[in-house]
Amino acid sequence: MCGIVGYIGERKAVPILIEGLSALEYRGYDSAGLAMVGDEQLHVHKVKGKVDALRERIKSERLDGTVGIAHTRWATHGGPSEPNAHPHTDHGNAIAVVHNGIIENYAAIKERLKRNGVSFKSETDTEVLAQLIGKYYTDGDLVKAVTKALSDIEGTFGIAVIARDNPDLLIGARRGSPLVVGIGEDEYLLGSDTSAIVAHTDKVIYLKDGHLATLTRNGYSTLTLDNRPASHKVHTLEYGAEALAKGGFDHFMLKEIFEQPETIQNAMRGRLLTEEGTARLDGLNLVMTELRRINRIIFVACGTSWHAALCGEYLMEDLAGIPVEVEYASEFRYRNPIIDSKTLVFVISQSGETADTLAALREAAHKGATVLGICNVVGSSIARETHGGVYLHAGPEIGVASTKAFTSQLTVLSLLTLLMGRMRRISHDDGMAIAKGLDRIPSQVRKILKQNDYIAEIAAIYSRHNNFLYLGRSYNYPVALEGALKLKEISYVHAEGYPAAEMKHGPIALIDTNMPSVVVALKDSVYEKVISNMEEIRARSGKIIAIATEGDKTIQKHADHVVYIPKTLPVLTPLLAVIPLQLLAYHIAAIRKCEIDQPRNLAKSVTVE
Ligand code: G6P
Repeated sequence: MCGIVGYIGERKAVPILIEGLSALEYRGYDSAGLAMVGDEQLHVHKVKGKVDALRERIKSERLDGTVGIAHTRWATHGGPSEPNAHPHTDHGNAIAVVHNGIIENYAAIKERLKRNGVSFKSETDTEVLAQLIGKYYTDGDLVKAVTKALSDIEGTFGIAVIARDNPDLLIGARRGSPLVVGIGEDEYLLGSDTSAIVAHTDKVIYLKDGHLATLTRNGYSTLTLDNRPASHKVHTLEYGAEALAKGGFDHFMLKEIFEQPETIQNAMRGRLLTEEGTARLDGLNLVMTELRRINRIIFVACGTSWHAALCGEYLMEDLAGIPVEVEYASEFRYRNPIIDSKTLVFVISQSGETADTLAALREAAHKGATVLGICNVVGSSIARETHGGVYLHAGPEIGVASTKAFTSQLTVLSLLTLLMGRMRRISHDDGMAIAKGLDRIPSQVRKILKQNDYIAEIAAIYSRHNNFLYLGRSYNYPVALEGALKLKEISYVHAEGYPAAEMKHGPIALIDTNMPSVVVALKDSVYEKVISNMEEIRARSGKIIAIATEGDKTIQKHADHVVYIPKTLPVLTPLLAVIPLQLLAYHIAAIRKCEIDQPRNLAKSVTVE
């Protein structure tokens, strides 16, 4: 949510800023802007719309300065418009600020500043910060002005700041929202994540919460927000710039769907112990005693990660026999959840930055729980604040609708279940069967992906329908929810995910020829029941697209279209059943000419409440 990039060095800043914004655009895309210091002027350009519109706006400008900041926005305070786009400047046009986060007490500060004669140009909370820094910037000490202004504000921020009369300094600071420093040769970058930086350097510092970085052409330092020197660690990025390219696919989402055989494999590499029938998760080594001792797990997540958590509940309760609760992070943080010394809290987040999940983590830690994380983004806030955890190693996920992160989360949850289950009631033989099943998943996913063209044909038949029902039962109920979410997110088609048998308590009233149902109907313990539900739909003239088990010919009598997936253990079927649903949503959105990688109103990483 909102992307920030900053540059200071020997090269022209603007092309680097624009390129950085393009890499960050998945974080927000309703407006964009940049500020650069050159010829003793602060040059600010902003547009409503995407980074391409900004590129177009500045193409005939002479912008040669070598320090600058830029921003791509996902609106919170103040609608998408040119005045509300970042960067924001102070009264005297001496300071420019880009910001990700929310300033909670902005209204009170705004009133105070207005009474002192400051006039405002936008409706944003960020402008208040720019005005405050400008007000405190009286003796040429920009760091002091920034820290003083930040001490006045309540809320969250990741910011980058430059000043007209100080072209040798770029400042970044964070509280709550992420910020990464890139260390190049005689040049430094700031980014709200590493995608803005990776084209220039693989050396990064994940700025700690409550810290500030000062970057000059000759070096950098990190400080606490009360101006004391702070320590930091330099990390080397695991992936290169090629991971941010579409690699011949029309969209990142399709590329990411097709990456799943490899990303699932990466999540298991070195962790799946097929002969022992268990898993090794080094990130949990420090909490092994707790893992043995606990008798209850709470999974906390949002969006697609919440659906993965729901699959985790089925896995953990069924196989490991540990009672599990699954909570929306946004609810958990404001309830008074019961957590005792035997409760383990697991937060699941692709980005590791989702504000609600982060707040839930802090709430659980505050209550004394051991909190572990399952994250994709290395060095993210959640990864750093948890007591231990497991990385997905799925590489950057750029498509706003999550796909490969979901299957990697399921893989890690399966490994976790194996590990904790083998400490309890999973036998060696059962463990081996699950491990072998997992080992076969990547090649089975590859086989499903070969049906891409066939799924595109089905999508063409249904692309004009405006309502869909997604049904699944047992392990595949969360898959139905995830399939419906994918369709909603990228094609703006209404879709409801439901437990198949629950359909008769409401949604069945909606069924007619115009409301197709997508039903996961695999050969498992609930197969016959799901077939009955399908017949209930057909009796009301509803059309059915079924996801079925390879070899099941009978199902053709009960469905209008069938997509087959290979046989695996019932507990592992979500890893396969979700793939056709991702492709179906993708193709329907493509036919409807939707902006697949950047759906309206959504952002990849929601760093506000
Ligand atoms: C946003 C994204 C979703 C994602 C959710 C949780 O809503 O658009 O795709 O599932 O946030 O994100 P997280 O990074 O915490 O998994």
